[in-house]
Amino acid sequence: MIINLGSINADYFYDLPHLPGPGETLAATRMASGLGGKGANQSVAAALAGVEVRHIGCVGPDGAWAVDRLREFGVDVRHVRVSDTPTAHAIVMVDEAGENQIVIYPGANQEQDERSIAEALEGARSDDWLMLQNETSHQVDAARLAREKGLNVAYSAAPFDVQAIESVLPFVTLVIMNEVEAQQYADETGRVIKDLPVSYVLITKGKDGATWHDLNSGKVLEVSAFKVDPVDTTGAGDTFAGYAIAGLAQGLPADIALKQASAAAALSTTKKGTADAIPTLAAVKALLGS
Ligand code: RIB
Repeated sequence: MIINLGSINADYFYDLPHLPGPGETLAATRMASGLGGKGANQSVAAALAGVEVRHIGCVGPDGAWAVDRLREFGVDVRHVRVSDTPTAHAIVMVDEAGENQIVIYPGANQEQDERSIAEALEGARSDDWLMLQNETSHQVDAARLAREKGLNVAYSAAPFDVQAIESVLPFVTLVIMNEVEAQQYADETGRVIKDLPVSYVLITKGKDGATWHDLNSGKVLEVSAFKVDPVDTTGAGDTFAGYAIAGLAQGLPADIALKQASAAAALSTTKKGTADAIPTLAAVKALLGS
């Protein structure tokens, strides 16, 4: 099982001829909206990969549709609260090459509470995983409690904040960063991957694949990316993380879990949107078999 303390955002997508520069006003060529948030995207990916997922989250009075969407994807939403603060949202600008720029309003994602975390972790076993990203409050509380119960804790260091990483790191089993975040971490702390006090580090590298570092054994595993024609890379990292942790939670060896995650992330870039672009396990297996 995976328990995910994760953000739930309303994503507003704007297709643009190019990403705007300072002071520039641009007309979008298309607008759409849907479920997003790094947390929700990771829960959806893990659920589609076939793992039981309990989501801990918080929405505002305007967020019932987002909870319904999570439920429709097969995510257990009994630990998603409703607060008086509006549901978080994200302005997602996508250029013609599929690259993006995102602005987030954190809203109800910052209103998590210890009670929901404790209740969601009730009955969890030591082979279960807690997933965290840096878009909610109470990350350290959740990580500490999960570790006390012997769970594995996976932390996606996004959006990047060195202080947030340092606070949660003592309780983390697996850190997930993209190349830019790994460089920022090294620049700001002077520490490199092998210095991290965790068992595993996963560095995602977009079209260059990913690198898995097992810091216990010193083993390094390179995972290649699948070649596709991307239309929107938003949420591909979340798809990778959700599918990868799902594979590990199912007891798959790291190389198999990561290959599956790489295929899922590639497929997600061939569709516009975030949670709605995450592929089913059947689609992932079809790509792996092809
Ligand atoms: O990683 C993509 C996600 O980042 C989007 O869904 C958006 O909500 C932001 O959280």
